[in-house]
Amino acid sequence: MARGQQAEKIMTSALYDSFIADYYDESPIVRGRLQDVAFYRDAARDFGDPILELGCGTGRITMTLAEEGKRITGLDLSERMLERAVQKRAALRVEARERVHFVQGDMTRFDLGEKFRLVIIPFRPFQHLLEIQQQLDCLNCVRKHLAPGGRLILDVFQTDAERMHDPVHMRETLITEYRAANGRQVRISERVAAFHRAEQRNDVEMIFQVRHPDGRNERLVFAWTLRYFFRYEIEHLLARCGFRVVRLYGNFDRSPLSDSSPEMIYVAESQ
Ligand SMILES: C[S@@+](CC[C@H](N)C(=O)[O-])C[C@H]1O[C@@H](n2cnc3c(N)ncnc32)[C@H](O)[C@@H]1O
Repeated sequence: MARGQQAEKIMTSALYDSFIADYYDESPIVRGRLQDVAFYRDAARDFGDPILELGCGTGRITMTLAEEGKRITGLDLSERMLERAVQKRAALRVEARERVHFVQGDMTRFDLGEKFRLVIIPFRPFQHLLEIQQQLDCLNCVRKHLAPGGRLILDVFQTDAERMHDPVHMRETLITEYRAANGRQVRISERVAAFHRAEQRNDVEMIFQVRHPDGRNERLVFAWTLRYFFRYEIEHLLARCGFRVVRLYGNFDRSPLSDSSPEMIYVAESQ
C-alpha cells in the first residue's frame, strides 16, 4: 500500500467513523490509560523496530513510540480516527514525524509488503473481531508481516464470566464526567443492551451527554458489540496461526495472569 503524509483512503463504514473520534482522546477513560503506553514503550525497546500497530486509532501509542526513536506504521479502519492521528503526527518533531506512517485498512486483510520486528494490537481492537474467521485472518496476516524472531503483542481484558453476564450492567451507569478544553461538559455512562452468551458477545452502549458552551444539550450513543475471550481460546487461536505464547501477563506491570488480573497480554512469536 502507498505511504504518504495522509493515511491512504479506502471506502469504509467503520464503527469509529462517528462522534466517538472527536471525544476519544479527551475522555478520562483514555487519558487515564498510562500504564499500557509505558508497557508498549518498553516492549519497543526490547524488541526493536520497525513496528506495526494494528487498530492504532488516534495514535495514542504510536506517537510515544515514534518519539522513542522507533519507526512505526499505524493501521486502522476508521478514517476519522486516523484524521486525528495525522493531526497529532503533524505536531511531532520532524525526525519523529518522519518515522510514523498511517494506513487506512482492515486488520483482517492487509498486505503492506514489509516485515516488522514487532506487531502490537493495543487497547483491544482484537475484541472488535466478532467472528473466529476474522480473528484467524488477522493473526495470519500478522504472521506474514513478522520478521524472523519478531514478536506479536496483543491485549484483551480478562473475562470475569459472572460479572460479564450480570443483569445489573443493563442499567445505565455513570462512568465519568469531565469538562473539555473547548468548554463542553461531558457525562459518559454505559450499559449493556444485550447479552449473547453463546456467541461470547455483549452489545454495549456508551452514552455521552454533552452540554455545549452555547447551552445546547446532546445525547450521543456509541453502540458496539464486544467480543470477549477466555485465556486458552486466545492461546488456541494463536497456535492455529503458527504462534507460540512466550509470555502471558495479567496487567501492564508485567505481573503474571491470576484470577484477579484485569488484562490478558500475550507476547507471541512464530513457531
Ligand atoms: C479502542 S480503539 C484503540 C485505539 C488505539 N489502539 C489506542 O490504544 O488508543 C479500537 C480501534 O480499533 C480499530 N478497529 C476496529 N476494527 C478494526 C479492523 N477490523 N481493522 C482495523 N482497525 C480496526 C477502531 O477503528 C479503533 O480505532
